[in-house]
Amino acid sequence: MSKLEDIVNLCKRRGFIFPGSDIYGGMAGTWDFGPLGTVLKRKIMNAWWEFFVEKRDDIYGVDAAIIMNPRTWKASGHTETFSDPLVECMNCKGRFRADKLGDFQADVTKLDLDKALVKCPTCGQHAWGEVRQFNMMFSTHVGAVSDETSEAYLRPETAQGIFTNYKNVVDTIYPNIPFGIAQQGKAFRNEISPRDFIFRCRELEQMEIEYFVHPDTWKENFEKILKECHDFLENKMKLPAEMIHDVEVEGADLAHYSKRTIDVEFDFPIGREELMGIAYRTDFDLNNIARESGKNMEYRDKNTGESFVPHVIEPSFGVERLVMAVLTAAYEEDTVGDSARVVLRLPEELAPYRFCVSPLLKNKPELVEKAKEVYTKLREKYGNVTWDDSGNIGKRYRKQDEIGTPKCIVIDFDTLSDNTVTVRDRDTAEQVRVEIKEL
Ligand code: GAP
Repeated sequence: MSKLEDIVNLCKRRGFIFPGSDIYGGMAGTWDFGPLGTVLKRKIMNAWWEFFVEKRDDIYGVDAAIIMNPRTWKASGHTETFSDPLVECMNCKGRFRADKLGDFQADVTKLDLDKALVKCPTCGQHAWGEVRQFNMMFSTHVGAVSDETSEAYLRPETAQGIFTNYKNVVDTIYPNIPFGIAQQGKAFRNEISPRDFIFRCRELEQMEIEYFVHPDTWKENFEKILKECHDFLENKMKLPAEMIHDVEVEGADLAHYSKRTIDVEFDFPIGREELMGIAYRTDFDLNNIARESGKNMEYRDKNTGESFVPHVIEPSFGVERLVMAVLTAAYEEDTVGDSARVVLRLPEELAPYRFCVSPLLKNKPELVEKAKEVYTKLREKYGNVTWDDSGNIGKRYRKQDEIGTPKCIVIDFDTLSDNTVTVRDRDTAEQVRVEIKEL
């Protein structure tokens, strides 16, 4: 089995992530987070919010609506250009993203596929139709009447909810430039081929910042933000630096709004792929909004008196890809003593449970009572503590290793006389005696 399959199986078996609508045969490109996955995802999102918003004074949060006025997408260019190249196999009628059928750019044509003798991944034939652009926005209708005038879209990125609130934030908070506006939330993309677990989904979650700067300072701000993103990935998400790679995006792969983009790639089990991106969006969005809305998007610098339309640096994280990267870095199979185990070496701050508390034997009421006491105290203090009294101790350790619980605490007969417990470490499997009050 591949490492990806191992991770997918573990996620399903232990309640991290399930296929969406599984009970009805699934819904391609959607995933449901279970009890443990929800905690992991929430901790990742909270860590991002704390790092980029709460702990600094130049970035402000917003929480905008998912369904926005359709003029948003006209102004942003999504109606025209938010598309992927779609190609159909004339033999089996399978539909594919043409640029992912080989080493192609987004402007790939039928001629390129023919020249490279690309075969259909489903039927193995070489019978491509013309490549056409497929717009990935999900449309819906707002109100009781379903016609052209009521058509709206689920947002394909959280960024536009930030840009459309730029003026509201400037007029209410009066931030000094450079400043950022951050948002976390759902985005929807009708991907042609959702694939690779949660790597490419149709419903996803993003964490984005639009960082507004003076046009003359975009280069240094771009470098500053790139460095901060690495700091977050390496020191908060604890992703190994050697698994993270910066790639300069060139040519047709550059998004329609960007003058410079760095894709931060990660060594996923499916290969090296984009984890997040940092784009220099210039004044593209604010100018388009000014044109579409007739409103002035200029910022007036109180210190210099200068008025200008700010330029924007955008670090954009996808939550699912970050969850997948964290799981990839944490997943390991090793042996403890002579028994094989699966262990998730999650950073302590991200593990769904910090501690597991157990009585050595579940049929000894005095041990259970003491263990419950410890469990309740730790839960009050740390919140994320679990209880396990099933099977033997060795099995309990394996179960906790697999879900990344850093410490298991066992209450035994000695505890009753000296108030010490065994604390067993997930990574080293070492056990030490610790006084309850020291926990
Ligand atoms: N506002 C800019 C923007 O949305 P993007 O490169 O299209 O840029 C940003 O997306 C991030 O969102 C990606 O780096 C990735 O982490 C995540 N992402 C994009 N499409 C995704 C999908 N279909 N499934 C999961 N994550 C996705």
